[in-house]
Amino acid sequence: MSASAASTGAASDRRARHVAIIMDGNGRWAKKRHLPRALGHQRGVEALRNLVRGARELGLEVLTLYAFSTENWRRPEEEVSDLMGLMKRFILSDLDEMADNDICLKVIGDYHAFSSDVVELIEKALARTADNTGTTLVVALNYGSMDEIARAASKAAENGAITVDTIAAELDTASLPPLDLLIRTSGEQRLSNFLMWQAAYAELWFTDVLWPDFTPDHLREALDEFVSRERRYGGR
Ligand code: IPE
Ligand code: IPE
Ligand code: MG
Repeated sequence: MSASAASTGAASDRRARHVAIIMDGNGRWAKKRHLPRALGHQRGVEALRNLVRGARELGLEVLTLYAFSTENWRRPEEEVSDLMGLMKRFILSDLDEMADNDICLKVIGDYHAFSSDVVELIEKALARTADNTGTTLVVALNYGSMDEIARAASKAAENGAITVDTIAAELDTASLPPLDLLIRTSGEQRLSNFLMWQAAYAELWFTDVLWPDFTPDHLREALDEFVSRERRYGGR
């Protein structure tokens, strides 16, 4: 957000409240440097930590990060286990800082499919930060839009009619503000089963930067461009 955009009333009303990121390119980042993939993921966690700090400094209301998809189970067992290990270590090392910095952690996706030690840690982190009112950090874990929409539709059906509103009310994101901006790193331009419903009218922003190289300055660049986009929602 530029100082001028932040200070003018009209422009500040157009600021993004909810930004989501498909954090992609850890493997290619490592490959380019002839390093093991696991190290790419490790550097990816460092980028994530930095970005959460940056989002909080920017006063962003909600940051949603795609960390593990329902399709990522297809990766070799060793890589899945590296990712689980990183997740555990991240919670252990960063929970205090997030709790102290007023970050409210939420999870979308069916994280109960993870092993019980991971589930326990996630639940501890959710409970510890539940009353925080600063930036909401939403982590998508074992998340896939198709799974989310199917789960939401069956819950809606249990309660009566299946409509756009009754499905929306059962989505994992139901308590969050609408998605404004969806960013994907690493040059790929696809949704990969991420927030397909929520992205219906989100603005999309793609960058060739690989996730471990993504910094709060890149986020600022995307947010600055966002305020200049004209959103029409099908109207005129
Ligand atoms: C993103 O990086 C991290 C996860 C999907 C967990 P990738 O591991 O997909 O990196 P590339 O796409 O192979 O470079
Ligand atoms: C999307 O990235 C999932 C996450 C970032 C967690 P992938 O690397 O798994 O997506 P594809 O396979 O390139 O579409
Ligand atoms: Mg990838």
